[in-house]
Amino acid sequence: MPTFKLDDKEIPFEPGDTIIRAAHRAGIDIPHYCWHPGLSVAANCRMCLVEVLPPPGRPALALAVLAWGPEKKEYVDPKKPKLQPACQLALADGMEVRSESSEHVARARAAVQELLLLNHPVDCPICDQAGECRLQDYWLEHQSSAKRMRDEPVHKPKAVVFGPTIVYDAERCIVCTRCIRFCDEVAKDPVLALRERGNLNEVVLAPGRSLDNPYTLMTEYVCPVGALTAVDFRFKARVWFLRSARTVCQGCATGCNAFLDYDPRNEEVYRHRPRENMAVNKYWMCDDGMLDYRRVHEGRVFEATVEKEATTVPAALDRAARILKSIAPDRLAVVLSAQHSIEDNFAFRKLARDILGASNFYLGGKPAGPGDLILREADKNPNTRGAAGVCGSVPPAPMQDLAAAVSMGRFSGILALGSETKDLADAGAIKSVGVSVVVATHDGPLVKSATVVLPASSWAEYTGTYTNAKGITQESEQAVGPLGSSRPAWKLVAALAVRLGHDFGWRKLGDVREAMSRGSASVPPGSPRAVGASS
Ligand code: SF4
Ligand code: SF4
Ligand code: FES
Repeated sequence: MPTFKLDDKEIPFEPGDTIIRAAHRAGIDIPHYCWHPGLSVAANCRMCLVEVLPPPGRPALALAVLAWGPEKKEYVDPKKPKLQPACQLALADGMEVRSESSEHVARARAAVQELLLLNHPVDCPICDQAGECRLQDYWLEHQSSAKRMRDEPVHKPKAVVFGPTIVYDAERCIVCTRCIRFCDEVAKDPVLALRERGNLNEVVLAPGRSLDNPYTLMTEYVCPVGALTAVDFRFKARVWFLRSARTVCQGCATGCNAFLDYDPRNEEVYRHRPRENMAVNKYWMCDDGMLDYRRVHEGRVFEATVEKEATTVPAALDRAARILKSIAPDRLAVVLSAQHSIEDNFAFRKLARDILGASNFYLGGKPAGPGDLILREADKNPNTRGAAGVCGSVPPAPMQDLAAAVSMGRFSGILALGSETKDLADAGAIKSVGVSVVVATHDGPLVKSATVVLPASSWAEYTGTYTNAKGITQESEQAVGPLGSSRPAWKLVAALAVRLGHDFGWRKLGDVREAMSRGSASVPPGSPRAVGASS
């Protein structure tokens, strides 16, 4: 593999790599605004300038500069090396590059910073990007000097509504064109453009259009400064108070890798943003997924109920156990959930098959929605493959089959994980079943018709694994603690199992995973059920 030297450190690169890409891969940051690893090269901000040493025996590219000579007490014209943009210059074997170790580069970076801030309002105290703004970070690292310009700065449009999700402040914009390139190259919707030149440059919408494609929030995410802000997050939180969990998006079967940002002081989740995974989502997420974090707090089932009356979780578990004991195995329908983790589904299936003796399994989940060739899958569930996988070689039947079986009076009771039904028409038929025990995170058709509802923690409140449409199994990390009276579904299952006379011995997630790795962990035969009875 060819190599080059960056500040005397030998770094390998792949043919065609630019300096910044090879450095990025090696974990070395060359300051940059306009470059983004997932977008084309614009090379317009000049923050990434580096000094490239000439090959032995070749003259260096040099520029004449005018500088004050204190000895001569007049202007002199010494030479300085012509610096090159690291984001654009392709590497050659043996190349020597100076970044942090060049005084010319340091001076250039300070000058670029000063130029970018010349007309900037520097309104950091009211800017949502404060705390994660490149202008702030690079000012500290590469400039650290006070503003010298005393003229009135150029004023430009502020709070321009680009669409339902994005607001633009032209005075904060450094015209890096990342947002424009993202719309052109990734979202395939060239709705943004530049107008004017020099310090009158600003980003504008195509005539008659608004920024309303399914990937608008990514423009805010790729903006390195506070020029684009998301309507959803504006003025809601300061980022230095937030912590991040490494999650998997629950919006569809793509399973985009994400960071879930939450405030540990009030256990509130504030936003979802992409986490790089080249095998799944590269650098991106769609709007639906980025806004899906709201479901951690919205439409939730926080308390247990028995016959629609609020009660404690232990009391609801007691009642659920009594109901389940009274239903014959062949009269019990069990619904797994494509919305829940593999661990939850495994626990549920184990309880139903090994303790209750059930053999009629169905798979619930959200209805299909729009997909595309960029990221979004039509299957709006994060774990369809993982949930089906816990049933081994006999996959669970679709919910339409359950509706048909229920309408023929085949079942006396339902034990369900999740409240979603893929086809809402199913719900009417499901209501006609005598009793049902539902373990759910959110309100929905199954919860509405349930005899006992047990509140399950959402994906943000416990760690779990999910298998996406490509068959990649990924872990999503816990962010906040269980909200309300909820508990992870596998814990509720373990507590239910104890009431049915079997202790799985699951005290922590690792215990469930160990049981999963053993395959079908054996449960003592026999069940406390009264076969043939119904409640
Ligand atoms: S709005 Fe942001 S991403 Fe777009 S050109 Fe301006 S600084 Fe760059
Ligand atoms: S494509 Fe699917 S998984 Fe990815 S962010 Fe959108 S909804 Fe979430
Ligand atoms: S990163 Fe902007 S010019 Fe290279």
